[in-house]
Amino acid sequence: MLIRSPEQDIERILFTEKTIAARVEAIASDLVSRLNGSRPVMICVLKGAAFFYIDLCRCMNCAMDMDFISISSYGAGTRSTGIVRLIKDLDCNITDRDVIIVEDIIDSGLTIQYLKQLLSARNPKSITTVSFLDKCARHDSSLKTDLTGFDIPDEFVVGYGLDYANYYRNLPYIGILKPECYR
Ligand code: PRP
Repeated sequence: MLIRSPEQDIERILFTEKTIAARVEAIASDLVSRLNGSRPVMICVLKGAAFFYIDLCRCMNCAMDMDFISISSYGAGTRSTGIVRLIKDLDCNITDRDVIIVEDIIDSGLTIQYLKQLLSARNPKSITTVSFLDKCARHDSSLKTDLTGFDIPDEFVVGYGLDYANYYRNLPYIGILKPECYR
C-alpha cells in the first residue's frame, strides 16, 4: 500500500464536484417524481454512500425518514471478500413503507443483492435502489439499480465517500487511483 497525497496518487479526476452536484440534483428530482407524494424511508448504506446520501436528501423537496445501515464486504483490499457483514441494522420499521436504498457504488453486486434480500423480508411496500456509480461490467445486469448516477469502467475509484483502506473518502471529487498505490 502506497499512500502519499491526492496530487501524487490520483491518476485523473473522473467526476468533478460540479458534475457530481448536477447529477445528484437530476437523480433527486427523478426520485421525487417516482414517489408520487409518498413519504419514503431513505436508507444510507454506510460508509461509502454518506456524501451522496446527504446531498441527495438535501436536494429532495419532500418529507422523508432518514435511516442508516452499515454493511461491509471489502476490508482493506481492492476486491470484495465475498462475505457481506451486517455491522449496524436500521433503527426504524420499514413494513408497508416505500424504501429507497442509497449506495455509492455497485461493483460485484453482492452488497445490493444482500440488502434487497434482507429488507424484502421485512415486507416494505416497495424498494427502489439507487447507486451513484455502477461498474456494470463487473456484475450481472439483474443486479443493476433502478437509478444510477454514472456507469463507470472497472477502475479503482476513490473520493465522494469511496475509499481505499479508509483513505480518500473525503475528496470532493471522484478520481481514479493509480494502480501503484494498491499493487
Ligand atoms: C463498498 C461500497 C458498496 C459495496 C459495493 O462498501 O460502499 O457498499 O462496497 O461493492 P459490491 O457491489 O462488490 O458488494 P465497503 O464494503 O467497502 O464498505 P464501506 O462503504 O464502509 O467502505
